[in-house]
Amino acid sequence: MYGKEIKKILVSKEAIAKRVAEMGEQISNDYANQKITLVCTLRGACVFFADLMRAIHGDVEIDFIAVSSYGADTKTSGEVKMVKDLSEPIKGKNVIVVEDIIDTGVTLSYLKKLLLAREPKSLKICTLLDKPSRRKVTFEGDYVGFEIENEYVVGYGLDFDQQMRHYPDVCVLSPEVYEG
Ligand code: PRP
Repeated sequence: MYGKEIKKILVSKEAIAKRVAEMGEQISNDYANQKITLVCTLRGACVFFADLMRAIHGDVEIDFIAVSSYGADTKTSGEVKMVKDLSEPIKGKNVIVVEDIIDTGVTLSYLKKLLLAREPKSLKICTLLDKPSRRKVTFEGDYVGFEIENEYVVGYGLDFDQQMRHYPDVCVLSPEVYEG
């Protein structure tokens, strides 16, 4: 179903669905009889978030946050800015931040520090994808769907230049696309 912009499917929609169900089960068990506030980090996590929340049983509230890097070099400089804050306070709540990918770790390090200052009861990070080889800062997710190599991935929420987020599988982009 994809064109030549896609080199290959890395994680199929079937494999994603299976793993998301497992992660939902694990989270449900870990938080048995406790309310959870799931925080979606816009925009990349939106597809994973929508699937994951429906794989969790128990009391779930949802909220949304958006952060963005300053300029082109920020993934290394560590400067991140708030674009859209949460709608509700999280003090005393069990918060799980849901991400599509941890890459350098810069975004999540910033977000974790920012949210911990609001004194949640607990704070965990759940990511679909993890690229540990790319870390610039030490950072570990608490729930990780798939550890992947350093390849440019798109689909299931992840973009190239704001395109391809709607592709149902996690795909590897053809190098010709980003090398021009
Ligand atoms: C992506 C992803 C993470 C961040 C991870 O977001 O959703 O938030 O990059 O990278 P890091 O570990 O190197 O900080 P992006 O800034 O591309 O925005 P998007 O979610 O709108 O696609």
